[in-house]
Amino acid sequence: MGVGLFGAAWRSSNLSDTFRYQELESWLERGIRELRWREGERLPSIRMLCGERGLSKATVQHALQRLEARGLVEARPKAGYFVCVRSSDLGQPLSRARIEAPRPVSVSDLLLDIMGRSAAFDLLPELRCGDLPPGVVALNRSIGRALRRPAQGSYQYYDEPAGDEGLRAQLALHLSRRGWRVGLDRLCITSGCQNALFLGLMASCSRGDVVAVESPGFYGVMQLIEQLELQVVEVPTGNDSGMDVDALEEVLKRWKVRACIVSPAFATPGGASMPESAKRRLLALADQYDLAVIEDDIYADTAFGPVPDPLKALDDNDRVILCSSFSKSLSRDLRLGWISGGRWHERILQLKLVTQLASSRSLQQGVAEFMADGGYASHLRRQRTGLRERRDQLIAMLSRWPGQVRVSVPRGGLAVWAELSASVDTLEVYPKALEQGVVITPGPLFSSSGQFRNCLRISFAHDWNGARRDALTSLPGLLGLENSNSG
Ligand SMILES: Cc1ncc(COP(=O)(O)O)c(C=O)c1O
Repeated sequence: MGVGLFGAAWRSSNLSDTFRYQELESWLERGIRELRWREGERLPSIRMLCGERGLSKATVQHALQRLEARGLVEARPKAGYFVCVRSSDLGQPLSRARIEAPRPVSVSDLLLDIMGRSAAFDLLPELRCGDLPPGVVALNRSIGRALRRPAQGSYQYYDEPAGDEGLRAQLALHLSRRGWRVGLDRLCITSGCQNALFLGLMASCSRGDVVAVESPGFYGVMQLIEQLELQVVEVPTGNDSGMDVDALEEVLKRWKVRACIVSPAFATPGGASMPESAKRRLLALADQYDLAVIEDDIYADTAFGPVPDPLKALDDNDRVILCSSFSKSLSRDLRLGWISGGRWHERILQLKLVTQLASSRSLQQGVAEFMADGGYASHLRRQRTGLRERRDQLIAMLSRWPGQVRVSVPRGGLAVWAELSASVDTLEVYPKALEQGVVITPGPLFSSSGQFRNCLRISFAHDWNGARRDALTSLPGLLGLENSNSG
């Protein structure tokens, strides 16, 4: 058992009192790491711990006070001790990226291989995901109705480039619940978020320009940067508070950067979210250094708790290009997304027209009706509960891996970022895992400079049924963790 993330197991040995409090402290800490007690939940009472563990009150209090001093729990008068942990508190923080000079990107064949297997979010893509969730059944009915509607007559005509007004109205209403009011003329429907990011980059950058990205960060952005012949500079991104704005400032001082792509809500791969203070500083830097900020908001609706407001809600100077889609929250197969392009919006509308002409009217109308009927909101409520459960199951399973394992604990998104012993090479393991039918997402996919070889993104998008559990259980063997005692 590695001590980096998961502490020593409880052992009821004949220890002197000096060590008993340490044992209890470790046991409680491990329970917190394995999410037996989650953030905001109360730990067992002092009386209960004394009774169940055969300890004196002073020993229990000592252990709790030590956890409090380390910031893992807080004492609330007359109520007990409550968990107040963040993922960086779970052992040592995960490693940070290096800052390197801007350069062109060359996306690896490995990424294309994984994408070709439609596998970036499933260890066992062959399984597919079983029954449709009720929300998607209802969505399909709405789309079916829209397709069957008589007197459409419009099948021989393109929809307007900005997209169906009914869908834009539903999106505007949905976004207004997150503190951002947007006029329908400032929203444009796209073919997913990747397409929105593409339009945003095309509108705001020219060949050779430098774009700052999160590191580790979304590999799809690297592909776009490569295709548009831009250059990339990676900005270290933590697993709790997202892009490191101090590091961004350092980058901006050294190089002329045209745009910054950032996911303030549950960034992939680690699920980090930027605090409001960091978002405000980012926007101030964007003003100072004259940047476009391309906000990838795709994971916001997967939040397990309150959905964070978009960065765009703070954007007084029209510098933020908000990009999103239904791919993570509802269906990847819809291929429907949206963009609000700030000062580049007119150019984006023109680019949408030139590159796509229009989006499917019936599909948009079906989704708009699904939203208007409350189907999307109830789907999200159900999905959140499932995602959180599956995240907890995954973290509990990872806690039993041998060797050193440090894991992010996201509050939204579809994946955790796991950092393993430095000797592990996830790229080497990829083909070996593939022979067993298991598709892993190695860390270097999330960097253009080959960093993070000892890291993996592991998704909890799908049910941990028997086969997926077995696949996960086989990974420590494939990764060589069972022989590693570097703990
Ligand atoms: C952070 C991020 N942005 C954008 C996309 C692309 O989204 P879409 O399927 O809507 O094109 C993905 C898909 O994996 C993603 O993870």
